Amino acid sequence: MKAFIVYCHPSDDSFTRNVRDAFVKGLSDAGHKFEISDLYKMDFKTDMSEKEYVRDANYRTSPEPESDVLAEQLKINSADAIVFIYPVFWTEAPAKLVGWFDRVWSYGFAYGQKTMKTLDRALFLATAGNPRERLEQFGLLESMKRVMIGDRFHNRAKRCDFVVFDGMSREKESRKTDWQKNLDAAYAMGRDLFAEATEPFSLDGRTFVAVENSDSGEVSAQTVFCYHQKGNTIWAEYSGGSIVKGFLVGTIDSAHHLHFTYQHINNEGVLKSGECRSVPKTENGKLRFHESWKWTGGEEGTSIIEEIN
Ligand SMILES: Cc1cc2nc3c(=O)[nH]c(=O)nc-3n(C[C@H](O)[C@H](O)[C@H](O)COP(=O)(O)O)c2cc1C
Repeated sequence: MKAFIVYCHPSDDSFTRNVRDAFVKGLSDAGHKFEISDLYKMDFKTDMSEKEYVRDANYRTSPEPESDVLAEQLKINSADAIVFIYPVFWTEAPAKLVGWFDRVWSYGFAYGQKTMKTLDRALFLATAGNPRERLEQFGLLESMKRVMIGDRFHNRAKRCDFVVFDGMSREKESRKTDWQKNLDAAYAMGRDLFAEATEPFSLDGRTFVAVENSDSGEVSAQTVFCYHQKGNTIWAEYSGGSIVKGFLVGTIDSAHHLHFTYQHINNEGVLKSGECRSVPKTENGKLRFHESWKWTGGEEGTSIIEEIN
């Protein structure tokens, strides 16, 4: 499989550049091909000319787009997935990437009788200086997602994901503490770009066991999860190992990601609860969910559950 990476950062001395390298390493280790447009290094022209404006604004397919635009369009149509890696600048992508969309998303390619293929995936990896709470406080994160996915991608990819690596500005302690964790996540996203389950499926009646967990987690290989699903509502009972009885309830989204809250009683009689996001992947022919969870008390961890056939 092949990914087209649109990378946009003015400096090699950046966290974003490290995200790109980690992502590319994951992609290569998984045996996938890739092509990169490094927009600053290419000095990609991002101001629309009057000729381009007149053509697009009047829904015309002639004259043919400029050769640099055609080259980008060819890269898109030769790939299975597109990945954007960039820093958040004033709650947007850098102007260079916004301008890339202005010109590359031309009439007759991205809209109208479009010749752009429907990609399997579009993935956005955005680095941000502000912490997530600040980005969520005024709906800024949601706005960025909506513009990229709701407008620029819409039905141009079968599956779209927007990931933000938050709190990464230079003066923040989290830049140091989260650096490696974020790069590990970027590597895993590259490695698993084409591995995640994309076919529709139901969780109803399916059973899973935990195969990996962080030290602060409580589920283990003895914990069995019996899942149910109706529409996009999912729930499960779980027990075994140190869990006497547990329940979870949540939703499954169009990318088959689970978002749920859980609560259980452990064998010390303590009631525990938390929330979890869970991403499906098919590994070694088995359906697995990669879970990122957080206890109500604040401690976080990751685990993997695997289907028992
Ligand atoms: C011009 C400019 C505008 C920025 N605007 C925002 C912003 O609106 N929101 C935010 O969270 N971070 C913002 N940042 C911080 C960048 O997103 C930060 O550079 C990036 O997260 C990671 O650092 P890196 O440049 O080392 O890759 C801005 C940075 C610059 C230089």
